[in-house]
Amino acid sequence: MKRKKKRARRGGRDSRPVLLNDDEIQAMREAGHLAASLLDDVKNYISVGITTEDIDRRIAKNTEDAGAISAPLGYRGFPKHCCTSVNDVVCHGIPTPSKELKSGDIVNVDVTPILKGFHGDSSRTFEVGDVSPVAKKLVSNTYRALWRGIRAINIDGFTGDIGNAIQVFAEELGYSVVREFTGHGINRIFHTSPTIFHYGASGKGEAISPGMSFTIEPMINLGHWKTDILEDGWTAVTRDGTLSAQFEHTLVITPAGPEVMTLGADEVPPF
Ligand code: MF3
Ligand code: CO
Ligand code: CO
Repeated sequence: MKRKKKRARRGGRDSRPVLLNDDEIQAMREAGHLAASLLDDVKNYISVGITTEDIDRRIAKNTEDAGAISAPLGYRGFPKHCCTSVNDVVCHGIPTPSKELKSGDIVNVDVTPILKGFHGDSSRTFEVGDVSPVAKKLVSNTYRALWRGIRAINIDGFTGDIGNAIQVFAEELGYSVVREFTGHGINRIFHTSPTIFHYGASGKGEAISPGMSFTIEPMINLGHWKTDILEDGWTAVTRDGTLSAQFEHTLVITPAGPEVMTLGADEVPPF
């Protein structure tokens, strides 16, 4: 996800969204499909005792085998192929051999392969071993929050409709929505316009138009929404130490409506 920035930059998230043609949409489909297959594989691989470094190595190998490259590696100095965010880590956790997964953990794995020049960006939060009912509910409701956002997209609507739907859904359940990180436009560029807020008012933001491509990636906390960044300059944690979950899909607005490019092989949308 994208760190909220204060100043406008050319070609950045405050410029007009680029609209993709049919060939470019097809390339987004292929990159998105690869991101989904990387996560389908991780889903089977996750188990008690593996390290987040093990996950990173697996992503690295499968990405290379697919003829793609990992966008996170070297992105603003990020050192690994994917982000692995455990428990109170909100996002941008750095894989490391010292982080072993234990029963009861929840871990978000966020991948972004670049295939034929286009990015597919997706993340899921996985359960490790036996997870508490509270954590299970947070994970499943965060997944539902993502789909609430997707279902709020209207060809005549605005990007603000997405965040509003997510915020209303999450807050009714007593959760909070992280504010410091957003979804983002994505194409040949990893993070570009439009910014997709996961909270706010409907009818605000950019008008939805065919050819737009962006991510939706809500981070939902059990406690307060505020985050801190650790000394490594990347790892975002909940300030109050409570659990946080996240799911992310890359979408393109086609003339027929929103198309989710990063659908899992067995993924059945909840609504
Ligand atoms: N994949 C993340 C996103 O959803 C971005 C990670 S940037 C990195 O936008 F450098 F931390 F990898
Ligand atoms: Co993203
Ligand atoms: Co991502």
